[in-house]
Amino acid sequence: MSGSREELDPTNPVALTSATRSSGRSSGIAQRAIASRSIAKMAEPYALTRRILDDRRLIHPEQSVRARTDAFREIRTRLLALGGDSNFITMVAPISPCSGGSFVARNLAIAFSFDEARTALLIDCNLRNPSQHVALGVEPGAGDLIDYLENPDIGVEKILRHTGIPRLRLIPNTSKREMSGEYFSSFGMRTLLDSLRDRYADRYIFLDGPAVKGSPDARILSELADFVVLVSGSGRDSPSAIRRHVADFDPNKLAGVVFNQLP
Ligand SMILES: Nc1ncnc2c1ncn2[C@@H]1O[C@H](COP(=O)(O)OP(=O)(O)O)[C@@H](O)[C@H]1O
Ligand SMILES: [Mg+2]
Repeated sequence: MSGSREELDPTNPVALTSATRSSGRSSGIAQRAIASRSIAKMAEPYALTRRILDDRRLIHPEQSVRARTDAFREIRTRLLALGGDSNFITMVAPISPCSGGSFVARNLAIAFSFDEARTALLIDCNLRNPSQHVALGVEPGAGDLIDYLENPDIGVEKILRHTGIPRLRLIPNTSKREMSGEYFSSFGMRTLLDSLRDRYADRYIFLDGPAVKGSPDARILSELADFVVLVSGSGRDSPSAIRRHVADFDPNKLAGVVFNQLP
């Protein structure tokens, strides 16, 4: 990482940076500014208890160990500063597998949902090892990301799932696929993301991506995102490997690297 990169202490996670904004992003902003804000008030059909949230290692505002919640709030604040007035899509991907990429993606999405004026949508884009429906306790069944991409006629509402966390929705992925790059570079995926983001000005989207190491899929997925957050698990990546992998991403999108202390 370059000297300009700022590091917080993520004894639980963190460490974000500055990123310059891509100048090409402004065209859709005016449109989005007038989009509806109605989902912020959307009712949750069920709510997870604090006990379940703790057991699942999901952050919540009343958490007794505040360091973790505060770390995610800090990342949220920095992303919002980068994003300006418009909502955005953030890809979160681990450098090496099992580094906590999915852990960071879902807790970051939850941190955005704390604010009643915002909603968060987490999309499980790890087609080889999908995990978010299990981690969030969302029953598989009604259709997932790949079902939709293969047959958009099922309708997006079918795959947008409640999570028991106010203002957080999940688009799960439950079917394992080897060739995720083909889905990520598809016209259908781009159209889906654009419509999900543009429909509600208060909706922030998080793509839980596959590991960067050993596959081009995370980089391909990053083309659909406004910002990229990489996750390095403690002891998993050497500084030179981190530097090398960071360099694969568009510097205009790279928000930073989270150093995650694995349990
Ligand atoms: N900071 C952390 N604190 C507690 N548990 C964590 C932390 N980071 C990761 N984990 C757990 O470690 C396991 C692997 O993390 P995961 O997010 O699935 O990794 P990746 O997506 O990088 O493959 C999961 O069970 C996750 O809940
Ligand atoms: Mg993962």
